[in-house]
Amino acid sequence: MIITVAANKGGVAKTTSAVAIAHQLAQAGKKVLLVDLDTTGSVCLSLGIQPSDGVFRLFTGSFDTEDCVEARNNLYVVPGDSRSKMVDLLIRDTGEYYQAQKRLWDFTYPFEVVVFDTKDGLKLQELAISLADVVLVPTVPEALAADAVYEIDAMLNVMHGAGLFHGKMYVLPTKVGLYKEHDAILAALRDSFGASVLPVVPNRIGVAVLAAQGKTLFEGFYAYIEPVREAYRLVILEITE
Ligand SMILES: Nc1ncnc2c1ncn2[C@@H]1O[C@H](COP(=O)(O)OP(=O)(O)OP(=O)(O)O)[C@@H](O)[C@H]1O
Ligand SMILES: [Mg+2]
Repeated sequence: MIITVAANKGGVAKTTSAVAIAHQLAQAGKKVLLVDLDTTGSVCLSLGIQPSDGVFRLFTGSFDTEDCVEARNNLYVVPGDSRSKMVDLLIRDTGEYYQAQKRLWDFTYPFEVVVFDTKDGLKLQELAISLADVVLVPTVPEALAADAVYEIDAMLNVMHGAGLFHGKMYVLPTKVGLYKEHDAILAALRDSFGASVLPVVPNRIGVAVLAAQGKTLFEGFYAYIEPVREAYRLVILEITE
């Protein structure tokens, strides 16, 4: 199963969600691949490992399954860093989209679950969407971020129409409680996307503290972030059913 975490908006908990879901599924015994298709190395940093040019080498042919970093038991990472931008330019400018898509698809083969963390505006995000069974769109319940959900929905519809996307989209409200207008915006999202809107992830300051320490939500026990962990458990149940 391939899960692509994508949003046309920064800071909405894409990386937090990708890492939480990947680690939880690895803890459940699945062989999980987590690919950092952002260019800031934030997947690696939030797992406490060194960012590197794994994504660049994956696409240029010198990164194999054995080169993945086993960041946790059953959790294999393809690290990224700013050099992923060069791959993005190559795919964009040389028209090697389909070769790149095949390279990524072939790479996922030995894994039961694949999670892609992405960055908006990159061709790499489009590639990850094209391979996805599930596109998970985190959003904070705030007007501009919610607009970005409609934008990505429109993009997925166009990709679907062109035969480039065959998966299902889910909307994941994150950091809920941080913004005053959240009730109205959540209601509007539920109106538009119905059952595709997942259980909400509450805002808890401790989430950023853990990430800064290179720990996932599922390491150690912190009662104050338990509602966040519980939300991600429900999310996994819904998107993998
Ligand atoms: N439920 C939450 N409660 C409080 N803080 C959160 C929560 N989820 C994520 N955060 C924090 O919000 C910030 C942004 O989250 P994250 O880096 O996952 O977003 P992103 O969408 O990947 O951002 P970027 O666009 O920069 O890649 C981080 O500091 C993260 O720890
Ligand atoms: Mg991120």
